Amino acid sequence: MQNFATSLGNLSGESTLLYQEIARKIEKEKGIKTINFGIGQPDVVTFSKIREAAKQALDQGFTAYTPALGIDDLRQKIAVELSEKYGNIKKEEIAITPGAKTALFVSFLLYINPGDEVILIDPAFYSYSEVIKLLGGKPVYAELRFSESEGFSIDIEKISKLINKKTKMIVLNNPHNPTGMVFRSKEIIKLQEIIKENKIILLSDEIYDHFIYEGEMRSVLQDPDWRDYVIYINGFSKTFSMTGWRLGYIAAKKEIIDKIGILASNIYTCATSFVQKAALEAFNTYDDVKNMIELFRRRRDIMYSELKKIKEFKIYKSPGTFYMFPEVSNILKKWNFDTKSLAIKLIEEAGVITVPGEVFPLNGGKQFLRMSFAIGEDKIKEGINRIKNVIEEVDEKSTHD
Ligand SMILES: Cc1ncc(COP(=O)(O)O)c(C=O)c1O
Repeated sequence: MQNFATSLGNLSGESTLLYQEIARKIEKEKGIKTINFGIGQPDVVTFSKIREAAKQALDQGFTAYTPALGIDDLRQKIAVELSEKYGNIKKEEIAITPGAKTALFVSFLLYINPGDEVILIDPAFYSYSEVIKLLGGKPVYAELRFSESEGFSIDIEKISKLINKKTKMIVLNNPHNPTGMVFRSKEIIKLQEIIKENKIILLSDEIYDHFIYEGEMRSVLQDPDWRDYVIYINGFSKTFSMTGWRLGYIAAKKEIIDKIGILASNIYTCATSFVQKAALEAFNTYDDVKNMIELFRRRRDIMYSELKKIKEFKIYKSPGTFYMFPEVSNILKKWNFDTKSLAIKLIEEAGVITVPGEVFPLNGGKQFLRMSFAIGEDKIKEGINRIKNVIEEVDEKSTHD
């Protein structure tokens, strides 16, 4: 019997792995090839310029510890990038981290005392609530509103009502995993207003900021007062298809960044040295990024038009990320299912992996499935066709019964 720390509680990991496990079993038993819509990363290899720069850094022996907040050149480069897009941001306001997840972790660590509340938009990326609970905080949820014609919107009124003396932070993720939404500027501006009024912190995870197919995205860094209340998170995983390299960053006012430096030196020392060097080259690969986004736009269009053929699904065409989030409540009602049992049925009978909305983590996803379009066009068509067949078969059976 292990005496694990009580703070671990019933911390859970990435639940999508369970579905991959079932899929493997089905592949073996039935001899069919499964199609995976559960993927959370671009399916392209990291661009060659970046790979070459990593090799060069290694050959030059750039293998030692770096400063805790990252190499100066990279901090400077990120500061310049953000300044060009959003307004004056200095190198001293940037921290480099091993992945955006670590950036999120240290940001929560900086602020959460046991009993503090953090408002999450529901549905949300699974790890926010887990880390908040790990630190003794309490996630509270503001469910997104959904309509098939308008997509998802932030319930500002609900958020206002949730704010109380214990509220420390609000977490925003824009563009949004799992819905694929790019929130409208007026919602972001209103959110920023109530945060300023209530003097709480806004943790803004903008890791999908390049995956935008329609309209404009408003970054929280566009508010000239952002330093008073914002911790901004981004990373290299999605934009430059560098998930396995583990590189993210934080923008915040210098006092916050300095504290992150202290945490970093005690937890991970620094992000990997040669990966930081290689990341300098990432800023010269925007042609590759553009091609990748155009590829994803085509896949998104195909996924949308294929999903439209399933009449029970309600779909809003994602303006961002690489996820579609169809509403499937008609099927759930008809079959008396929840999204977990639906996801399992789709693996077992269609050989198709989706992510049930219930894992994101409370109520907001309960009527939805997340489907990633980070896979090839043929697979998208084939996978959705298989789902359609399973739904039609069940319908046919029930009308004959
Ligand atoms: C919303 C969101 N934030 C953060 C991350 C983690 O990014 P990283 O690979 O940089 O740790 C992900 C990855 O799926 C994500 O979807």
